[in-house]
Amino acid sequence: MGSSLVLTRRQPTRCRSPSSVVSVRLAPPFKPGRTSTYSRAMELSGKTAVITGGASGIGLGMARSFATHEMKLVLADIEQGALDEAVAELSATTDVIGVRTDVSRLDEVQALADATMDRFGAAHVLCNNAGVGIADPVWAMSLEDWRWTIDINLWGPIYGIQVFHPIMERQGEGHINSTASMAGLYAGQSLGAYNVSKHGVVALMASLARDLRTAKSPIRASVLCPGPVDTKITDSARNRSAESASQHVGTEAGNRFYANLTAALQQGMDPDAVGDLVADGILSDRFWMITHPNYLDGVVAQTQQIATGDLL
Ligand code: NAI
Repeated sequence: MGSSLVLTRRQPTRCRSPSSVVSVRLAPPFKPGRTSTYSRAMELSGKTAVITGGASGIGLGMARSFATHEMKLVLADIEQGALDEAVAELSATTDVIGVRTDVSRLDEVQALADATMDRFGAAHVLCNNAGVGIADPVWAMSLEDWRWTIDINLWGPIYGIQVFHPIMERQGEGHINSTASMAGLYAGQSLGAYNVSKHGVVALMASLARDLRTAKSPIRASVLCPGPVDTKITDSARNRSAESASQHVGTEAGNRFYANLTAALQQGMDPDAVGDLVADGILSDRFWMITHPNYLDGVVAQTQQIATGDLL
């Protein structure tokens, strides 16, 4: 969900590192065109990928792309019917299992790892992709709206890293990708809880990548920031419990925003193309995986405005 970005054409920002930085590099210099922080990419063929939210949309697109790279697959999703269909489709081309998982629950993410190790004995790629969204002005979101969104979108990836990172370190190889959004780089209107969760995912993955690099770990990390993709994300409430949903109030402004967003997403990118982009990103060791680079203009413009104190 990135269609709320303000698009403006600006000259690229030229950033300088502060001259006072001596031993601790808090903000390394910006290097235009630098795409990889690592020196060694991972082969995919014969490896095992775990994809949360793998039953539909972008997650299913990743699964289809990974299958063409001859990866074995573990699809994790809360929606059993869609999960069964995805497993049936992919089992024609690769070795695949489906594990019903609620990523907002640590015990279920642990059970996902156990099922993965039981079946394949390894977990080389983890895609923390499951996500939900809800639209309303910040003040109109109930506390349960905030919890539901952040539990899935941010705690899901945190649990994923907690459980799968030790497995990958033992293997001496692995790649953790999380799906954030352009909403993780630019907080547009009406998506407060979603924006907060996705900014958290970007920070989580950048922190992870830098910590791994500092520790000279063989494990890689990356973040996917899609713009509009043609999926069912605006129908996220289909997977919300009745009790949680009953605490959503909803406003006319939020409903109108979501109707417009739904129409925009229907013109969005094919999720299978996003899957290919992620596979390519893992193969070429990209940290930032961006589906709509033109949207970065808004992000750059916002960064430039920090100096003037204005919010675009
Ligand atoms: P989708 O609704 O088609 O797929 C999301 C999947 O996550 C579904 O299969 C759903 O059943 C699953 N899921 C929901 N709650 C879950 C839970 N608690 N545990 C496990 N699985 C759960 O939507 P889409 O777009 O494919 O979403 C995938 C990711 O992409 C999300 O993180 C979303 O925020 C992100 N994204 C989507 C954009 C878009 O334009 N579609 C743009 C930017 C980011």
